[in-house]
Amino acid sequence: MLVSAKEMLQKAKAGKYAVGQFNINNLEWTKAILLTAQELNSPVILGVSEGAGKYMCGYTTVANMVKAMINELNITVPVALHLDHGSYEGAQKCIAAGFSSVMFDGSHYPIEENIAKTKELVAKANELNISLEAEVGAIGGEEDGVVGNGEVADPKECKMIADLGVTMLAAGIGNIHGKYPANWAGLSFDTLDAIQQLTGDMPLVLHGGTGIPAEMIKKAISLGVSKINVNTECQLAFADATRKYIEAGKDLEGKGFDPRKLLAPGTEAIKATVKEKMELFGSVGKA
Ligand code: 13P
Repeated sequence: MLVSAKEMLQKAKAGKYAVGQFNINNLEWTKAILLTAQELNSPVILGVSEGAGKYMCGYTTVANMVKAMINELNITVPVALHLDHGSYEGAQKCIAAGFSSVMFDGSHYPIEENIAKTKELVAKANELNISLEAEVGAIGGEEDGVVGNGEVADPKECKMIADLGVTMLAAGIGNIHGKYPANWAGLSFDTLDAIQQLTGDMPLVLHGGTGIPAEMIKKAISLGVSKINVNTECQLAFADATRKYIEAGKDLEGKGFDPRKLLAPGTEAIKATVKEKMELFGSVGKA
């Protein structure tokens, strides 16, 4: 079922667990994530960055693939198809293409401009019953060419954006996309606590889920995080399993070069990663 992320995130916030957003790159990724969510009876959010959207031949291709797959695979758990770190234009395009959720990342604009643009998109999203994620304080690291410095958000600015009526709010709390450096200072729980106190019921989003230790994830959930984004970890798992297959010479045995065989270990590795995360986030059985 393709749905807005609103209800699943409000339930998660009230129930003190988090729904995983797993980014997709192609058919195998999408299939692996949907099948795992169904198997574990968990709600799920499929994330699509602007770069991945382009790679998959445009947002309409993605929306049609996801809708058809939900239908063909009999996926009955709630699934949101979500634009990740969207530009203002990208968000409009995804809404038109049939996405059920979009993120507008206005964190690099001055706060007044972030507010003005977010406000316009809130009106549009409400009209169409689509969920909208906004961001305050850039997330560090590099993702698809979008580079952020790892800011810590100002809780007062978070409240200003939350009050516009967005569905969920991403706030920088020292988190970084991609692998964490050895000297990483960790998440700023004081900031997260202050943001949650000011924003109340608002589901908070933790980006950069790859490599955050399990204890920090649990603490973040206890302080109001109800959506956690994971991308790099699935990519690493896929690449590792594929490399092992090739290094073992399996592509040279029989029809081992057949893409359906060649990509199978990587696809299974994505499933295992998604399962591990859903268990950690507490979303298993919450569909
Ligand atoms: P990672 O690639 O670090 O898991 O971050 C994913 C993310 O935050 C997508 O927006």
